[in-house]
Amino acid sequence: MGSLKMRAEDDIYENMFKPAILQTSLRKGNPPESSPKRARILHAVLVALSLLLLAALVFVTVTYLQERREKRRVAEAVQGIRDFWKENGTLNTLVLEQTGQQLVGEVQLLRGLWEEVVAPCAVMRDQHRDILTRLSQGWRFRSGNLYYFSQENNTWREAEGFCTAQHAHLSSVLSQEEQEYLVKETRGIHYWIGLADLGVTGTWRWTDGSVYTNGFWSTGQPDNWHQNIGGAEECVHLKSKSLHSWNDGNCTRRYRWVCKKALGQAVP
Ligand SMILES: *[C@@H]1O[C@H](CO)[C@@H](O)[C@H](O)[C@H]1NC(C)=O
Ligand SMILES: *[C@@H]1O[C@H](CO)[C@@H](O)[C@H](O)[C@H]1NC(C)=O
Ligand SMILES: *[C@@H]1O[C@H](CO)[C@@H](O)[C@H](O)[C@H]1NC(C)=O
Repeated sequence: MGSLKMRAEDDIYENMFKPAILQTSLRKGNPPESSPKRARILHAVLVALSLLLLAALVFVTVTYLQERREKRRVAEAVQGIRDFWKENGTLNTLVLEQTGQQLVGEVQLLRGLWEEVVAPCAVMRDQHRDILTRLSQGWRFRSGNLYYFSQENNTWREAEGFCTAQHAHLSSVLSQEEQEYLVKETRGIHYWIGLADLGVTGTWRWTDGSVYTNGFWSTGQPDNWHQNIGGAEECVHLKSKSLHSWNDGNCTRRYRWVCKKALGQAVP
């Protein structure tokens, strides 16, 4: 009796922890109940469970695939943006380089302009100083030229040497106005000017390189007078107050002289 009771209690405990549908097959000692109704229920439950599992699997798979697709889409977009910036960054670098080169070019241009302006300014400043110095030394300004009227006498060559030492030459006379000016300033006193026919007699040349065309010769001049010694007269000086005041003289005679320097000529 006691053992039977124990068995009954075992069953109670077992039944408490096992699903009811499995009780029959698990019950020890008892053959499985072969009720067709129970088998159908079990089958239906299993089928339902399988369907459920399948549905879950499909759901998970679809979700996974969707997520993967989404991830790939995002990754592609990120890569696209990255590529865009890389490309645009390169473009911007190129643009910057071009701009930089352009700027360098402009700076060089400005430097060139600056030098073009500053260099002439320096020349003008030097010329300005030169003019002031000459004026203080007795040079006179007229119509773009500076003239020096000597007080001393000298041979024609020494006179020309004095002028070239001053970065000038004995004066040329290139217009009637200039001749009138020189006549006025020299007041009939003998002054050497820069004309001579030292090479070929009758071929007159200005020492400053000006082209000789015609002159303001005194009546009967130039006569290349032999001076009663068989000599010649090859150097020209002013000798009177008249417009036509030139005379050819012996170059070794000692007279005053006139130097001329054009303004705007570079100072050597
Ligand atoms: C790069 O950026 C500039 C603006 O900084 C824009 O104008 C240009 O169109 C961009 N280039 C490309 C290739 O998108
Ligand atoms: C220059 O020579 C003239 C004569 O041609 C003379 O009268 C004069 O005194 C001389 N002047 C000087 C400074 O030597
Ligand atoms: C110039 O005159 C001097 C004398 O005063 C004479 O010795 C000389 O030969 C003359 N020169 C010429 C080129 O006539």
